[in-house]
Amino acid sequence: MHITGRNSAQHRSVLLPLRTMTIQEEAQAISDQFEVSPAQVKESVREFRRLMKLGLEETGHAMTMIPSYVTHVPKGSEKGTYLAIDLGGTNIRVCSVTLDGEKGFKIQQEKAAVSRELMTTDDPSKLFHFIATRIKKCVVEKLDAKGEYKLGFTFSFPVNQTGPAEGTLLRWTKGFDIPAAVGHDVCGMLQTELDKMGVKVRVAALVNDTVGTLMARSYVSNGNGSLVGAIYGTGTNGAYLEKMTNIKKLGNEAQHENMVINTEWGSFDNALTTIGNTPFDVALDKLTPNPGNQMFEKRVSGMFLGELLRQCLLTLSTNAPGLGGAGLFSGQTLTQLNQPWSLDTSVLSMMEGDNAEDMAVTSTIIQKELGLTTSVPERGAIKQIVRAIGRRAARLAAVPMAAIVISSAAERTDVSIDIGVDGSVVEYYPNFIAMMRESLRDALDRRAEEVNIEIATDGSGVGAALCALVA
Ligand code: GLC
Repeated sequence: MHITGRNSAQHRSVLLPLRTMTIQEEAQAISDQFEVSPAQVKESVREFRRLMKLGLEETGHAMTMIPSYVTHVPKGSEKGTYLAIDLGGTNIRVCSVTLDGEKGFKIQQEKAAVSRELMTTDDPSKLFHFIATRIKKCVVEKLDAKGEYKLGFTFSFPVNQTGPAEGTLLRWTKGFDIPAAVGHDVCGMLQTELDKMGVKVRVAALVNDTVGTLMARSYVSNGNGSLVGAIYGTGTNGAYLEKMTNIKKLGNEAQHENMVINTEWGSFDNALTTIGNTPFDVALDKLTPNPGNQMFEKRVSGMFLGELLRQCLLTLSTNAPGLGGAGLFSGQTLTQLNQPWSLDTSVLSMMEGDNAEDMAVTSTIIQKELGLTTSVPERGAIKQIVRAIGRRAARLAAVPMAAIVISSAAERTDVSIDIGVDGSVVEYYPNFIAMMRESLRDALDRRAEEVNIEIATDGSGVGAALCALVA
């Protein structure tokens, strides 16, 4: 079923002009639309593999397959002290990371807020000067200030990477808006400010958070090296180790055997041929600044699951026009529910984990977040929808993993089928990994048992330091 329209109220009236079902039956009907069948998982995996190949062959595809210029993954024996910084949101984090060479490490770190002013300044050097100041402070206070250090720069914005520590900013996201920086080399801008201040730090690696996650996991894993690093947090994306001979778009740059590829899988299947499209997804997409883009991310990652729930609840509520009888939240004012983005993904995590018969936690959350009271049967209906949204996210989340495992299996004997994952959704959403595994089994059958999935913490610290080391 594919219905387009401006909002879910409209979809609702197209679907059911009169309330003919109970709230429970409607919740079931909504939930059914989020179902991802085993056949659909398999089909999605095939499509993912097709787009991987395409992105490795040519530039300009939505699933970009960005070469990271990291040519091998760590095996745990790496040693030394490195600096790492993480700029991805409203904070900048500066860490010094000491790797002990036996899969262990020590981190000292400090966070500082990036002011609104710096996020939107006309002069990019002001932002990079600020970052350099924080790095200098870390070197002076925590390290031997006479030493020279390499730095891994985790920069979680889209860049066109052209070398290990070289990449031009394609566009800002997440509230940053410094137009004069677009098209410029972010490492170069930072290095200039460090040099001006006389800080003996060399920006040695430009790192996507997923590449950092792969490196961090690989360092602590079983010593064979890992295959995939994946983020399921505010956004979703993954990086993996690819054979150079498959990265056709690099042409004769291929002097190494392997390279880590940042897939940018958030844009997997923007054409929506396999990942499904409910009326709720359609309504959500229209509310975003990038409609038609990052379509996989919009079904899987934390930034969007809360809004998907809100779209479903709107449809279930009395607010939907054309309803004959009483809907969810009957007779109450829906001011907050009518507010786009008013529900956070943590709300779904908490409801999913509420197993009490009276669902008291769910009741409190709905009261607090939406100012609405609910009966136990209403809460049951809401929870059913929460489950459906979370389950779809997890089942889809396994698709890229399965695709990469299948594509790599024949060619890879040098690394383990070991996957490091990080991010709020995979860490805090109840049973996310278990649901992902179920879907992996649909895709890989018995081979799914060979896939090891572990939470990999601190890709932007340890991972970035490791990138600086191997660069
Ligand atoms: C978004 C970004 C990607 C990042 C991911 C996870 O998808 O485009 O670069 O890795 O979020 O943070």
